[in-house]
Amino acid sequence: MFEKLGAMPQDAILKVIEDYSADKRSNKIDLGVGVYRDETGATPILSSVKKAERKLLESQTTKSYLGSSGDPDFNQQMQHLVFGSKSGSGDRITTLQTPGGSGSLRIAAGIVLRTGSASAIWTGSPTWANHVPLLGSAGIEIKSYPYYDAESKTLQFDDMLGALQAVPAGDIVLLHGCCHNPTGLDLSEQQWREVSDVIAQRGIVPFIDIAYQGFASGIQIDNFGVRHLFDAVPEMLVASSCSKNFALYRDRVGALSVVSKDAKTAQIVRSQANNIVRTMYSMPPDHGGAVVKLILADAALRSEWESEVESMRLRLRSMRERLGGAMRELTPDHDFSHFERGNGMFSFVGVTPEQVERLKTEFAVYMVASSRINIAGITNNNVDHLAQSIAAVL
Ligand code: LMR
Repeated sequence: MFEKLGAMPQDAILKVIEDYSADKRSNKIDLGVGVYRDETGATPILSSVKKAERKLLESQTTKSYLGSSGDPDFNQQMQHLVFGSKSGSGDRITTLQTPGGSGSLRIAAGIVLRTGSASAIWTGSPTWANHVPLLGSAGIEIKSYPYYDAESKTLQFDDMLGALQAVPAGDIVLLHGCCHNPTGLDLSEQQWREVSDVIAQRGIVPFIDIAYQGFASGIQIDNFGVRHLFDAVPEMLVASSCSKNFALYRDRVGALSVVSKDAKTAQIVRSQANNIVRTMYSMPPDHGGAVVKLILADAALRSEWESEVESMRLRLRSMRERLGGAMRELTPDHDFSHFERGNGMFSFVGVTPEQVERLKTEFAVYMVASSRINIAGITNNNVDHLAQSIAAVL
């Protein structure tokens, strides 16, 4: 029977990992998949994570099942991290541990589908390349609103607001909490206020994907959108991830938080979420969540983790400035200020797929075909080669 299947195209982002590994050139640069890299190009395990893992090894007494929502203490800690002072408010928020941010997105879409009250999930154009297939695979229609103007390399804010004003009541609007993937361009606090006014007036349900908390302006600042919308609307969904800020990529750690109008409804939502999880993967993996829980609950580990996140954030900022500065010198007639205007790991270079191909074949510079680059792949050693390569293909 399997011969009846057709081959699927490879995922555009994950394909870059393979292409890059196969290249033998020593000056190659990997700007593909979104993992943090340090100045040496490595993706190390955080020191706070290593310490928590040692502690866990000593103290853990069982690996028995925990249940479909994962570890309640992890859930409480994550709710606090993501919602800040808003967490715990009247038990309206229910949080469950999920396999990464992707697991959280998928469970959220399943819950939305079961309500039967949303005709679509609206995602910005562009958005993370996997948002549409991942959310769509739950069986819900995905529509889009404008977000980024490729010509001017700026946020299309007026068009975005205009489009949101036409979204039917009860539909879901997906927003990036911070470090927009793939553009790096985030809503300002004022823009969050305006977006949330439209969302509240129209009865839209916001769905925030926050996968890079701490990489834009800081851990306690990057959740501004979550906190602001929490006060503005009765219901919302928040998918969060520990892949990047705890560098726990392959351990698959994330959380889904659903805000309901009251505590009773929140309990019902939780039962629905548990049921979806039970019929899909039964329960989330524990190890990474146990590590995060230890870090967030222990003052010394937490403070070490916060400074590790801060140094990742500052390195990304400094590489944005280095690349922006190098481009200004090499190509004064082109505007590459969006590198410096952006936050977090991603920006588009703003070149065509053919130019992306030339960057790969002629200069050993690897990026997604859309020209999205992972800023963390830039180092003080390779930034000049990168800037000269981009300038050469313009
Ligand atoms: C990315 O956008 O590169 C990351 O979120 C990793 C992934 O799974 O695509």
